[in-house]
Amino acid sequence: MTTQASENTDNKSADNKSTSSSQYTQALQRQDNRFIHPWENMSDLGTNKRTIVTKADGIYVYDSEGNKLIDGPAGMWCVNVGYGRQEIADAMAKQAIEMPYFSPFSMGAMPSSVLAEKLAELAPGDLNHVFFTTGGSTAVDAALRFLAFYNNVLGRPGKKHIISRQDAYHGSTLLSASVSGKARDKEFMDLEQDYIHLLSSPNPASRPDGTSVSQFCEARVKELEDKILEIGPDRVAGFIAEPILASGGVVIPPPGYHKACLEVCHRYDVLTISDEVVTAFGRLGHMFSSEAVFDIVPDLITCAKGLTSGYVPLGALLISDRLLEQLKGDEDETISFSNGFTYSGHPVSCAAALENIAILEREDILAHAREVAPYFLTQLSTLTDLDLVAEVRGVGLMASVVCAIPGKESLELDYEIGNRIDAHCQRLGLLVRPVYHMCVMSPPLIITRAQIDDMVLILREGIGLATDDLRAEGFWD
Ligand SMILES: Cc1ncc(COP(=O)(O)O)c(C=O)c1O
Repeated sequence: MTTQASENTDNKSADNKSTSSSQYTQALQRQDNRFIHPWENMSDLGTNKRTIVTKADGIYVYDSEGNKLIDGPAGMWCVNVGYGRQEIADAMAKQAIEMPYFSPFSMGAMPSSVLAEKLAELAPGDLNHVFFTTGGSTAVDAALRFLAFYNNVLGRPGKKHIISRQDAYHGSTLLSASVSGKARDKEFMDLEQDYIHLLSSPNPASRPDGTSVSQFCEARVKELEDKILEIGPDRVAGFIAEPILASGGVVIPPPGYHKACLEVCHRYDVLTISDEVVTAFGRLGHMFSSEAVFDIVPDLITCAKGLTSGYVPLGALLISDRLLEQLKGDEDETISFSNGFTYSGHPVSCAAALENIAILEREDILAHAREVAPYFLTQLSTLTDLDLVAEVRGVGLMASVVCAIPGKESLELDYEIGNRIDAHCQRLGLLVRPVYHMCVMSPPLIITRAQIDDMVLILREGIGLATDDLRAEGFWD
């Protein structure tokens, strides 16, 4: 028991501590306001009071005030093996000492060659060649540039059109943003439009009343075929699709959709790009999901994120041997794919990727992900008894808790809902990723059942408190 005097002293030192920690946080926030974050709202620039995360371990991150938070989105769908992996840090440090960098333009370098071979071994079908990039956007960009290159070399310069889908997110370079389909991201931004076409979202929830899921699937596949025929098959180069539309709110296309789309594309000599930036390296319980989950072998696969579990940037474009074979030309011809980066196959990134893949294999994390995924989805689905929760959907370790006020829909309201849930959950110890009115959850793959329980409990309380706020503030009649 403490005496009154010592209690006062303790309180004082606790006060001092919290004052100095909040001064520390304020100083960090001031510095952070120099950082133009992705999707920065210009009217908040310079006045943001962002939480500053300072360390992380397992599935948790800690902010500058010492608060421990479950990382619900695993960073940005990427910290698959969890934080604090000494083995990855050691592999990176060893590589940095041995050879931090070498130009990929002329010579081969360790360990990018080893990683290329490893990815070829893990990838489906004959996708046995790898073009390394610096992240997901540059992998998608490289895939799209490759399609144009491929058709130019084959003497079909008019075969350039790309088909994508609404709700898709493929990145932030000019080309990868142009094939993205989130309408709200297009305001104020210039994009390529002349040869990019967006189909409707394959979200079964959007099907008209009285339409079955399989009828909906047929209609969406027919839309693809109709679009190819409308543009002309000799003018369509490719179809790009995320297996699950991730940032669009974990949109799960109907069963058989991807296979049927692939068949249509094959029929018209249209190449397929499976954008596995989110779904590769375990998020759906497999190294790659295209074949293992959706029974398709696309012509190209893009990946990034879980490739290094986010420890360091790296992306990759996997290309089918069949395509590359056609580009060889005559012996005396030089046909060069003039695309590449100073940091293509960066040694430190590749060392991190190799160790990350070794961890996934050694600890059988994919089996763990497959094992806990049904529990994750069942537990999240219990939230549908809350007034604000309209739908919970997910597959593997990615899910979206869709919130809505019955009978009301607007962008402003979507932000109000998402931001309130986000703020309450964070105070309670959970980071969610609010995508408008959806809470997207994609925790590190190492999450346990007990941690899933903690996560869902906080989400329940956070959504409940947000509901109270929305009612009190008159958003709910
Ligand atoms: C499916 C998909 N493709 C591409 C990207 C872009 O990747 P990056 O942010 O690494 O450039 C993302 C990012 O979230 C993504 O979800």
